[in-house]
Order: sequence, then C-alpha cells, then structure tokens
Amino acid sequence: MKISALLLGLAACVLSATASADAPIVIKFSHVVAVDTPKGLAAEFFKKRSEELTKGKVKVEVYANSTLYKDKEEMEALQLGAVQMLAPSLAKFGPLGVKEFEAFDLPFIFDGYDDLHKVTQGPVGQAMLKKLEPKGIRGLAFWDNGFKSFSANTPIRTPADLKGKKMRIQSSKVLEEEMRTLGALPQVMAFSEVYQALQTGVVDGTENPISNLYTQKMHEVQKHLTLTDHGYLGYAVIVNKKFWDGLPADVRGQLEKAMKESTDYANRIAKEQNDKDLESVKKSGRTTVYVPTAAERLAFKKALVPVHQKMESRIGKELIEAIYKETEFDPSKL
Ligand code: LMR
Repeated sequence: MKISALLLGLAACVLSATASADAPIVIKFSHVVAVDTPKGLAAEFFKKRSEELTKGKVKVEVYANSTLYKDKEEMEALQLGAVQMLAPSLAKFGPLGVKEFEAFDLPFIFDGYDDLHKVTQGPVGQAMLKKLEPKGIRGLAFWDNGFKSFSANTPIRTPADLKGKKMRIQSSKVLEEEMRTLGALPQVMAFSEVYQALQTGVVDGTENPISNLYTQKMHEVQKHLTLTDHGYLGYAVIVNKKFWDGLPADVRGQLEKAMKESTDYANRIAKEQNDKDLESVKKSGRTTVYVPTAAERLAFKKALVPVHQKMESRIGKELIEAIYKETEFDPSKL
C-alpha cells in the first residue's frame, strides 16, 4: 500500500485526536469512481447534508477517483483508521474475509432494482452488514449503482464470443467463476488501472454498469458494448467502527440522518445516471451498442446461472436460498 499516504493519514488521526474541542471532526471519505456517478454524487450529497445537519461540527472530505487510495489500499486504510468512510463495491469484500457479499455478484440473481431492494433493504441485507463488525467495520447502508454489460473489441452476441478473451474483473471469486464459465480469462485489476489496460490491450474487455464505463471513458477504447445486464454492481457504505462508536451521540444521530437521506438520494439517481450515460455513450459514436434479443439474453442466463451452484460452498447455500426466497427466483425454471 502507499505507505506515505497511510502515514499521513495516521498523523492526521493523531492530530485530530489532540485538536481543540471546537475543531471539526473530520471524516475522510475515499472512493475510486468519478464524481459524476451514482456513488460520487451520493458522497457529495452526504458531505453537504452532514455539514448542514451537524452545523459544521463535522467536516467531510471526499476523495474521488482513487486520488487517496486504490481498491485494496482503501480497505486497509479504513481498518487502520487512516480514512473513516468508504463505499466499496460489494465485489471487493472477499479479501477482507467476508465472502458473503459476493452473493451480489452471482450472474442474473436480480431481475432489476426492485428485486435487489428486497435484499438490500430487508433483513437479509441487514444481516450481511452485521458480518463486518468483527473486522472493526460498521456497515451503514447499501447504495445502488446498476447492472453490468460486457464490452470488448469484438462483437458479443453469444456466450461463446467471450471465449479466450482476457476480461478485467473486480476481486471477486464469483466474478472469476463467471468468466471461467464463459471460457474467458479473468484478470483481477484495480479500477484505476482499467482504462489503460484496455487501451494498451493488456486485457481485451470488461464488464461495467454504464456509468462506470462512460465516466472512465472506457467506451473510447472498447469497440463493442452489449447490454446484457447480467449482474449487479453496488456498494456498502462502511465506517471504522471504533471511530463511529466514539462519536458524540448527538453527532452520530445527525450523521445517521444524513446517511439515510444520502441513501435515498443514491438509490433514486442510480438508474437515471446509468440511463443518461448510456445515451452519451451512444451519441459518442465510439462504440457499437448492441441490445441482445430476448433469446440471446436467455442464452447468457442459461450459461451463467450454474455459477450459483458452483459458488455455494464459498458463499453459503443458505444465503443464496434466502436471496432466492426474497426475489422469488427459481433456477430450475429457466
Ligand atoms: C470496479 O472496480 O469496477 C468498481 O468496483 C468501481 C466502483 O467503485 O464502482
């Protein structure tokens, strides 16, 4: 990890602990996407509402676009207390030892946002957030992004079209299995490195919600995009537990209110942002956008749903079944 950044962060923690009583409490909120994305905008919204509701007692510093930490480093930094808040993708909790979050990566497990919310806003989601506590992390909320599409430099109409392709993935074993099931070669890579890897041909393709593809300009280095909506990408907003529990109760209450409002906001704008960015991708003319037919999409679904069973031993059969129950998904009825 970036040692210098970490030391700076730690020094800042010590300083803030010894600062005068009326100096603001600083929350460093680090993330890896652009400001103009569902997560980026929601982080700015949280900053604004937190500072308003606490009347300046709290100052939120948002670091977007991996400017403070990259994917793996930010998790370590949170546990060490060098940052206080993150919103990593649910696909990035495996290395922390909380494999259950990879259930969200199972291909085609959610039919849309309504299905997803039955899990993230219900008891199954809340129980998952609790699993973070032994790691010194408190899970505050789930924030939406959207459904992923495949992109590459060659057309993607059938599962066989991804065979032999080097595909960038996030650090999730489920996503690794998804790519292997398609005969592709998964390459785990930090988000900040994907554009260049696509540009230089280190990888052939990737999968993204459109908001991430567009704001990182990946559509400029991918000739083909197929709107498969084959899997979900969203976030858990997490804080250093010691920091959070140590806040004055009134301040924590105000921040909880700000978080509740930010979550409503994030989940209201996520689809709009992705839809808007899809229009921009189309308008750019840099990539061919293909909408698969129902039969083509079903072929991807049939190819990828077996990943659920293959990953049972990692994620837990009970959890997968609890999700199926919430969303009324029956893999035998494809
Ligand atoms: C990715 O690495 O593709 C995403 O997790 C980035 C993000 O935070 O949306």
